[in-house]
Amino acid sequence: MQNDIHSIGDNAREEISKTSTLREVHDLKVKYLGKKGILTEKLKSLGSIPKQDRPAFGSTLNEIKTSLEHLLHQREETLKTSDLIDKLKTEQIDVTVPGCYMPFGRLHPVTQVLDEIIAIFTSLGFTVEEGPEVEHDFYNFEALNMPEDHPARDMQDTFYISHDVVLRTHTSSVQVRIMEKNDPPLRVIAPGKVYRCDADVSHIPMFHQLEGFMVDKHIRMSDLKGVLELFIHRVFGADTKVRLRPSFFPFTEPSAEIDISCVMCGGKGCNVCSGTGWIEILGAGMINPQVYEKAGYDPEIYTGFAFGMGIERIAMLKYSIDDVRLFPENDKRFLEQF
Ligand code: DAH
Repeated sequence: MQNDIHSIGDNAREEISKTSTLREVHDLKVKYLGKKGILTEKLKSLGSIPKQDRPAFGSTLNEIKTSLEHLLHQREETLKTSDLIDKLKTEQIDVTVPGCYMPFGRLHPVTQVLDEIIAIFTSLGFTVEEGPEVEHDFYNFEALNMPEDHPARDMQDTFYISHDVVLRTHTSSVQVRIMEKNDPPLRVIAPGKVYRCDADVSHIPMFHQLEGFMVDKHIRMSDLKGVLELFIHRVFGADTKVRLRPSFFPFTEPSAEIDISCVMCGGKGCNVCSGTGWIEILGAGMINPQVYEKAGYDPEIYTGFAFGMGIERIAMLKYSIDDVRLFPENDKRFLEQF
């Protein structure tokens, strides 16, 4: 009986010494010391042994059990250490390898250009106002001297929500909203989305505009020219030439279109400026007295100017982009260039 358990102990020791993985050590633990392990079974059978032999048998069993536990633990520690050494050898970190590129989010180019433009006008004392994109016919057309049957309405391909509610076709709609609520002097810019039923390389149904206006006593066309020249020089560079070309808008009188010397060829003539050397970038003029009447201002006392520009157009000129549809498409390969 005693010999029997001694040889179990010897076998176990030999098996433990041959283990090379933690898994094998674990399996041996189960085999000898587990719930149904060989030694455990022997301990359970203690009751069937003659009484006088029990103490000696029991203590031998316990000794073997303790020594196996000890051995298994030691083996485990040794293997853990060598495992770690192996890991450290194979998993060395090379600190000289360049780091992983972390993609950063960034502002959409239209937002970047809009922010730049807003910063220029706020530095001149203009405040930023917003108006609704779903707008009453009154603010979008009527108050801007475009009554229901006015042909100028045709130029703006309007999305109608109902007979007298539209998606605003321009940010000029903010003018009378602000004038109704505030007395002059006013220096306001109103950026935002506008909508027109039109789509090709240079038109998208939703785009961005920025309206600006200034109303006070004694505001003259030269003030308009000065403000716009400063703005253009900051966005396109101090060498950019500016010219005012007579035009017509129902809400300004006189009206002008503002051209700048071509940003591509510097004015020599190329296909971007159709050989003229000039590019139109915004509409402007002195606010029509009819508009003041709608707003409740006395046109005998106050004068002022207004201008409106397309943000996508400015961004296209600034970054030489030839298709406006790239902006809303949001292809990452395009966006990542800004
Ligand atoms: N609202 C015009 C448009 O969308 C742009 C414009 C032209 C605005 C002349 C103005 C202006 O304030 O004076 O085409």
